[in-house]
Amino acid sequence: MNHKTGPFSERVRLLLAEMSLEEKIGQLLLVNGAEGELTEELRTGIITGRIGGVLNEADADTVGEMQRLAREESPRGIGLLMARDVIHGYHTIAPIPLGQAASWNPEIVEACARLSAQEATQDGLNWAFAPMLDVSRDPRWGRVAESFGEDPLLIGELGAAMVRGLQGKGLDHADSLAACLKHFAGYGACEAGRDYNSTFMPEGELRQTHLPPFKRAIEAGARTIMASFSDLNGIPATANKQLLTDILRGEWGFGGFVVSDWEAIPQLMDHGLCATEKDAAFEAASAGVEMEMYSSCFRDTLAALIEKGRLNKKRVDEMVGRLLEVKCEMGLLDDRKHPVNVPDMAAGLACVKQAALESIVLLRNQDNLLPLDQAGLKRLAVIGPLADKQADQLGTWVFDGKPELAITPLKALKEALPASVELDFVAGLGHSRDTSTAEIDQAVNAARQADLTLLVLGEEAILSGEAHCRAQIDLPGAQSELLNRICDTGKPVILVIMAGRPLAIEKEASRVKSLLYAWHPGSMGGPALADLLLGKASPMGRLPITMPRLSGQVPIYYARRRTGRPPTGEFYTHIDDIAVGAAQHSTGNTSHHLDAGYTPLFPFGFGLGYAETRLEKLQLESSRLPMDGCLSFSVELVHESGPRQREVVQVYLRDHVASVTRPIKELKAWQLVELAVGERRKLDFSLPLSELSFVGRDQAWRIEPGTHTLEVGLASDGGLTLDFEIVA
Ligand code: GLC
Repeated sequence: MNHKTGPFSERVRLLLAEMSLEEKIGQLLLVNGAEGELTEELRTGIITGRIGGVLNEADADTVGEMQRLAREESPRGIGLLMARDVIHGYHTIAPIPLGQAASWNPEIVEACARLSAQEATQDGLNWAFAPMLDVSRDPRWGRVAESFGEDPLLIGELGAAMVRGLQGKGLDHADSLAACLKHFAGYGACEAGRDYNSTFMPEGELRQTHLPPFKRAIEAGARTIMASFSDLNGIPATANKQLLTDILRGEWGFGGFVVSDWEAIPQLMDHGLCATEKDAAFEAASAGVEMEMYSSCFRDTLAALIEKGRLNKKRVDEMVGRLLEVKCEMGLLDDRKHPVNVPDMAAGLACVKQAALESIVLLRNQDNLLPLDQAGLKRLAVIGPLADKQADQLGTWVFDGKPELAITPLKALKEALPASVELDFVAGLGHSRDTSTAEIDQAVNAARQADLTLLVLGEEAILSGEAHCRAQIDLPGAQSELLNRICDTGKPVILVIMAGRPLAIEKEASRVKSLLYAWHPGSMGGPALADLLLGKASPMGRLPITMPRLSGQVPIYYARRRTGRPPTGEFYTHIDDIAVGAAQHSTGNTSHHLDAGYTPLFPFGFGLGYAETRLEKLQLESSRLPMDGCLSFSVELVHESGPRQREVVQVYLRDHVASVTRPIKELKAWQLVELAVGERRKLDFSLPLSELSFVGRDQAWRIEPGTHTLEVGLASDGGLTLDFEIVA
């Protein structure tokens, strides 16, 4: 038996027995590539076994040579982890994850991830820093773009789908990318939506809201996790033993390895938790970090920490052992093959087009202006700084994207509209932040002469993503002025928003006939939009995140608490209705804003289609259930009029009285249902009551007797409801 054969654990044990301390520490180092250059430093590091992985090297030949050196010339022949941020596509780009989440469709998320893996492994990559599973309820935060939105269940299911897609048939398969769940944990709660900012939350909130998506994605087979930059209740995640060891290992039994985020270990000094790199390395290694990304605290200090007896040598063996176990699973201790099947470009574009089609959300469609009546359309004005921007429609985190592959709304409409329709394009503004209004007159003229205007506004890609947070989440630049001038012509306007976050567009939305939210829709955003505008498909996207009226409402999300003074109806005096000189008096002592009330512009789960559908006949099998029972019920979805339509039938539950305050409702299940014209479909659900459990005062998951409400709807508000009792 040698380390080349036998069970992984045995192979790892034998390897550890052979390896020097320096080689072991080398495995814990994830170094940055040099953009296609195999520098002497990299070459030496690999040959001497002092490097465990490389990130950001995407040149196939360089990656191939690095692996050859590691396998053939290093002391133990251990292959390299080759990592990249493959977040929502590699060359062919899918909608940003927030857009993919609007599909509510694990299958399309998995398919896009599979495509990413097939493309990225062609260049020799084998590890993706995805899915990002941070619960994001603050659209000021730039990274909301790379999240699956605000709800833990939706995030967990779509994150699990992305893991399946990335990893494919198995970690050792040639076209498999090992997933890396990030950022563990609670990063999305950064104060003020300011990236890298502190996060403060009760342990119950951490366990109830932020951890479940990670647990769900681990169950789907993820073997690596990235610790978050953020400070969690005074202990940065990178040094947080409760997170990285007590919960991840002790409670969940996670067997893979944890990698730090970029320089997050020396940043423990910036946090003010550590005074030296040696202390930072000790804190991170002791808390549960196995691999160090980019920085070199482990390389420079672990040997001394062991020598001084501060860090137990066994912990280093455990760190290296966990990493080698995953490398074994990935085939990196054997001759992992290079993928032979080059992904089909047309199939890839079709996949990301379908994802874009399912992600675009129709939020308003006054007078059923959409789908366009092509017969009556003679002249269409296409206006806006995002109507023809290939790179911007790809969104954030597209290091290896190919903008030249992207088809914009303008290009797609030119191809899709009949020659009888005259199309007039005027950008109106140079880019989304442009404040020069010189071209607005020309845009207004085009709108005036057209039958209707398609106005494509929003954010350039650079305005969302890591460290790209905005305090005021309105339309940047002079876009609102452009919109108002176009609407002042009195001609109908269809507004399409491309953005990496929900924008506070209450006033703008009220002025247009139709509003479609396209997020950053990826390579095929244009053709997908054209199909929806022309009625080749009916919009099926539903909001994965709440849309605020005003920036100041944020954070705003559906699963809020009632509070002791719950806002109900419109029982408050709007700021504009308060009499001048009014003496202090109650304007409605409930939880609301004078200038915004308490409801969002559009709620979580909301979206329109071209068909009229309705739910009816919600029926419970039993309205009194034992604690270990199962909530079984049915509902009927009816297609009343219009084209074939896919709906997201959403199931929410409410616990009226419990030992801790509970959200007014929580998503517990959903079904995607496609109805033909006039069809009626009965849907059956069966939820084990354990799905209702929550984290109690003792931080343990529990279920309690009492009155609950089942709500089944086509959004997070306005569904059919029935009460039931859980009896002890
Ligand atoms: C970044 C991000 C992380 C990413 C890593 C490597 O700072 O926080 O999501 O995977 O560094 O690029």
